[in-house]
Amino acid sequence: MNKALILYFSGTRNTKYIAQLFKKAFEARNIQVDIYDILKYDAAGNKTKYDYLVAGSPIYVELYPEIFITNIKKKVAKNTKIKAIFFATQAAKSLTPSFNEVYNYYKNSDVEITCTDYFRMPNNFYNFLFTKTPVSQYRSLLDNASKKVELITDEFLSGSRNIKKASNARYYFTKVMYALSYKFYIPSAAGKVSINSDRCVKCKACEKNCPTKSLDINSSTPVLKTCIMCQKCMNNCSQNAFMYKNKEFDVYKPIES
Ligand SMILES: Cc1cc2nc3c(=O)[nH]c(=O)nc-3n(C[C@H](O)[C@H](O)[C@H](O)COP(=O)(O)O)c2cc1C
Ligand code: SF4
Ligand code: SF4
Repeated sequence: MNKALILYFSGTRNTKYIAQLFKKAFEARNIQVDIYDILKYDAAGNKTKYDYLVAGSPIYVELYPEIFITNIKKKVAKNTKIKAIFFATQAAKSLTPSFNEVYNYYKNSDVEITCTDYFRMPNNFYNFLFTKTPVSQYRSLLDNASKKVELITDEFLSGSRNIKKASNARYYFTKVMYALSYKFYIPSAAGKVSINSDRCVKCKACEKNCPTKSLDINSSTPVLKTCIMCQKCMNNCSQNAFMYKNKEFDVYKPIES
């Protein structure tokens, strides 16, 4: 029986949701699947030989975030003989340069990427920037994503190529925008996040689950400069205690865990 490895990074569950749809689609086609949050995946300790890789992440500032790139490069070595799909989830309707980095990195290696594709999902960043996707659109976005997973899986397993990739010029320009955003905008936004002490019960779940260990709930500016703004903390607090610019956080929950 063929085996597939699914690795994902996800802040507010959109990407985890798509990864789970891929799991179902592969299993329905008689492929055994192991699925991991990429941050928890122990590549060195896993001796299973996989035929297929499905790897995905949200895009931040039009690119795969550095946390995903670093982990995928570390955990999927270039000499791994495997056929791969890379997917992204995003709010935008059109292609971003998110796939260029992995496509260029694994080119001419044993990791054979035959599919790169993106899923339009509800926007999770509306507390900070952009507008909220109308709740009335959530269902159709999720249904469309589900159909797309089926199509991609069939195409991929039949051996056809489906590579969506932007020009390298656009990719390098976006890399500069990404670096500037993470140098200036994101730390500035993080500095405006606070925790409502009347609500916080000091359970520390947010600190424990932060992928970059960027929280100190006892500080008046609890989000540290290393925050990547994945929003796991803000959207999973059982007391909805997070605030941005002293306003209650509008919690993002189109997908239940
Ligand atoms: C810091 C940050 C930056 C984002 N930048 C973009 C962007 O440039 N373009 C876009 O379409 N969506 C952007 N988004 C929206 C997310 O990519 C989208 O909602 C994604 O599906 C969230 O996935 P997750 O729930 O798995 O974390 C951004 C989200 C965050 C948190
Ligand atoms: S998860 Fe919420 S309640 Fe728990 S420590 Fe963090 S802010 Fe406080
Ligand atoms: S502090 Fe930043 S990186 Fe950590 S969970 Fe919260 S938003 Fe994500």
